Amino acid sequence: MYFSNQDIQLRRQKLASKWDSLLKPDEAVLVYSGEPLAKPGGLDQTYPFLPHPAYYWLTGRRREEEVILYNKNEGWLEFQKAIPAEEAVWEGARKDLLVSGPGYNLLELGSFLEKNKFSQIYKLGQVAGVAGKAFDLRTALDQTRRVKDSSEIKLIKHLAQIATYGYQKIQEAVHPGITEKEIQIVYEGEILRRGAHTVPYDTIIGSGTNSAILHALPTQKNVQENEFVLVDAGCDIYDYCVDITRMFPSSGKISSQHRALYQLVLKAHHECMAMSKPGVFWRDVHNHAAKVITEGLLQFGILKGNLSTLLEKEVVSVFFPHGLGHLVGLRVRDTGQEENVNPKTYFGARLRVDIELEENHLITVEPGCYFIQALLENPTIKSKYSDDIAWNEVEKWKHIGGVRMEDNILITREGNDNLTIGVPKSTEF
Ligand code: GLY
Ligand code: MN
Ligand code: MN
Repeated sequence: MYFSNQDIQLRRQKLASKWDSLLKPDEAVLVYSGEPLAKPGGLDQTYPFLPHPAYYWLTGRRREEEVILYNKNEGWLEFQKAIPAEEAVWEGARKDLLVSGPGYNLLELGSFLEKNKFSQIYKLGQVAGVAGKAFDLRTALDQTRRVKDSSEIKLIKHLAQIATYGYQKIQEAVHPGITEKEIQIVYEGEILRRGAHTVPYDTIIGSGTNSAILHALPTQKNVQENEFVLVDAGCDIYDYCVDITRMFPSSGKISSQHRALYQLVLKAHHECMAMSKPGVFWRDVHNHAAKVITEGLLQFGILKGNLSTLLEKEVVSVFFPHGLGHLVGLRVRDTGQEENVNPKTYFGARLRVDIELEENHLITVEPGCYFIQALLENPTIKSKYSDDIAWNEVEKWKHIGGVRMEDNILITREGNDNLTIGVPKSTEF
């Protein structure tokens, strides 16, 4: 539907050409789709099944307990489950589960493996404990998946358009008095109406000081006059997604402090977007955001002293405590970076990805600057930065909460393409 047979064959070819240099002819790789997860105490109830993204990417199928096998001589072999008649009674025909081409019955997997006497079988997908050569095979798989193909990009653009409709509805709806929950309903109602399957993560909505809670869940709080409402909301079709953040002023009159904080985050956002292109290390883009925010806070009088000392002491980690972004696309944390087993921190933030950008990587750019109670009241932070932060000045900014701006960019040969550019950004304040 979203991915043709040709898309799937091309993905497999690209991956096989990498795996062939790692595998012996008598070795095999199995990629598992995963098992449904029982709800605690839920009797026969399970959580909605999400296939392991590697399995979905390689097959276009979403059925639980399936396996795809790769061997240099045999190529790709699929072991699938029959759909029992009884299942169709409860779940319908479930066309998305149907087998696209010839395959083996999953029941034959054991005898197939026995007959072929593979010297090694490496298990990937939804399995525990990936080490040794399996680790290298998974890294090759992740690195291949990180480069988005044209069908994936088309689907992401479609998702961005759906999210745009949702955000436009928020723009019309936000006013003093509306609750955070009502904003969630406006957004999610619109994207579901427009064809989204679900949201890729719990929609984040924080108004006023709630905007400083990084993953704030919408509450029954009424939006007040002269506040910011932070909305970090995505949109999902078959686990493909976008992840977007926008700020909405609750009313026409917003304070100069709100404006200044917004403009600072926007500056970091613009400059980081401009830097992102093939060959650039993501850590350098993150570090740039940290520097811009440090400079801004110094200018506001929230930080004190000398810029280079403040940078060296990484004081910005109190106000920008997360990484600049993460890979996105197939799931909101797409391939992550499981090969990075000793993640380093930069300006106090552990980056989810510490990679060199390549053409067709899809990554979020999401700088933020927040007044987070849990950090500002932390005794260790207070003493560590007693001379670097103007604590009295902080008191005057805390009511704002925080600001984040998030777009999803596709790295292109020359630079990048902002796939979520259509989602309205307020520029009027
Ligand atoms: N949407 C949640 C995040 O970006 O972390
Ligand atoms: Mn994000
Ligand atoms: Mn987000």
